[in-house]
Amino acid sequence: MEKIVSLCKRRGFIFQSSEIYGGLSNTWDYGPFGVELKNNVKSAWWKANVYGRDDILGMDAAILMHPKVWEASGHLKSFKDPFIKCPACLQFFRLDTIWDKIWNSDWFTSLRETMMGDKDSSYLLRWAKTEGKKLAPNLNLVKEPEVTISWIADLHHKFGGVEFDFKTYVGRIACSRDGIARTPCPNCGNPLPEESMAANLMLETLFGPVKETAQKVYLRPETAQGMFVNFLNILDSKHPKLPFGLAQIGKAFRNEVTPGNFTFRTREFEQMEIEYFVKPQEADKKLEEWIESRFNWYLNLGIKKENLRKRPHNKAELAHYAKACTDIEYNFPFGWSELEGIANRTDFDLKQHAQASGRDMRYFDDVAKERFYPYIIEPSGGVDRSILAFLVDAFHEEKVKDDIRVVLKLHKDLAPIKMAVLPLLRNRPEIVEMAKEIAGDLKKSFICVYDDTGSIGKLYRRQDEVGTLYCVTVDVQSLEDKQVTVRDRDTMLQDRVSIDRLKEYLSEKLNIK
Ligand code: GAP
Repeated sequence: MEKIVSLCKRRGFIFQSSEIYGGLSNTWDYGPFGVELKNNVKSAWWKANVYGRDDILGMDAAILMHPKVWEASGHLKSFKDPFIKCPACLQFFRLDTIWDKIWNSDWFTSLRETMMGDKDSSYLLRWAKTEGKKLAPNLNLVKEPEVTISWIADLHHKFGGVEFDFKTYVGRIACSRDGIARTPCPNCGNPLPEESMAANLMLETLFGPVKETAQKVYLRPETAQGMFVNFLNILDSKHPKLPFGLAQIGKAFRNEVTPGNFTFRTREFEQMEIEYFVKPQEADKKLEEWIESRFNWYLNLGIKKENLRKRPHNKAELAHYAKACTDIEYNFPFGWSELEGIANRTDFDLKQHAQASGRDMRYFDDVAKERFYPYIIEPSGGVDRSILAFLVDAFHEEKVKDDIRVVLKLHKDLAPIKMAVLPLLRNRPEIVEMAKEIAGDLKKSFICVYDDTGSIGKLYRRQDEVGTLYCVTVDVQSLEDKQVTVRDRDTMLQDRVSIDRLKEYLSEKLNIK
């Protein structure tokens, strides 16, 4: 992950926000290549889901909405993440991820490695006095090893064995003299409080210039509600027949308890959402169709199949509005995590808004002559998470002779720059002039850059690192035969192409008719 973060900064994809002031934590700015990649991801999504279908209409609702929207949607009451704050190191942890965090923590990983196999408590004691002291200074096993070890006397030999019960074991190494099992802090090992707190994730702001009279409004936590509250406007202006959908891309904001993992979880992010309205009896089938369609979208854009999976939610993790949901997960460097959720939101939202606004939000079926609330199937993905997955998946380090070539093998529709024109010798004015002329011409049809700021080897490496698909090199021979060399990013194979045919050649390669 560090390699991706470093490449993103070094090559102008993603920077920390407000960096010159020390940065605003977990907030990111997209630089010159980042914004191109972002626009390409959004455009690929819009093309597949709006232009590529007859049953979806685009929308762009305001971020700020009437506060009653969030009352009706249930967000003000239910959009909460239970969390625990460690009293010693003051870090926050989401209740639902705390055991994963412990399992993956530095101290538990070190303890696990030390105790692998059939080790006795002398190893545990040694760990407590050495590694444990550094990694988990507040763990009871570290503070009072002899006392704590007595609570696990019957367990230690099972460590690493099939019967090993992780939570029981960890609970006991966190016991103090009272012998009561505790949940230790994933960061410092201190016993965590029993009671969790609940944080509302809604970000507030003031609507109006004078604080005393301004209205409290919210930065939307999902783009979805902008589509639900416009349902009647869409029916009245476009008269669509079921099933049909609305699509929107836009910013969303959440006061996340534990933002992190680069752009994976942030407080400001962008969503790509579809609200697909269906007859209730068709909801289950449409849900399955959308899961397939969205899964294939990522594959078609080059994500490796082995890095993508579907994970149906169990009842306990469903959002307050959902009857069923399947996540599309990506195998990020920090583990399998959600990329997109596809949910059956039933008629919950339309009914809630109908009740709160007093408007009849039912759909009229003019064949069956009946009014009813459609169900909603919602594929909801994150722009930033998709970008992160595309970057991770495309990142390759390859050994070329004695060197390591870093190359971003992004899909051709996503690559920020499609081609670069490079003069082989930058001190030869006639070569430079010819290369600039070619670049100027290609720019009329493609996203193309000209670069002469290094040796050809350096220029290739630089373009590989940002995923440029083709490098067009002008050399001495080009002055004579009016041909250039075109190098393919992935294979590094080179073709000699006549300048007359260059546009046609590149259009064919890029599949542009
Ligand atoms: N309207 C439904 C909804 O918002 P969600 O699962 O909470 O569902 C949908 O969010 C998607 O939005 C996620 O799959 C993820 O890609 C993205 N997302 C959610 N919270 C995010 C955050 N804090 N940072 C970045 N992306 C986020």
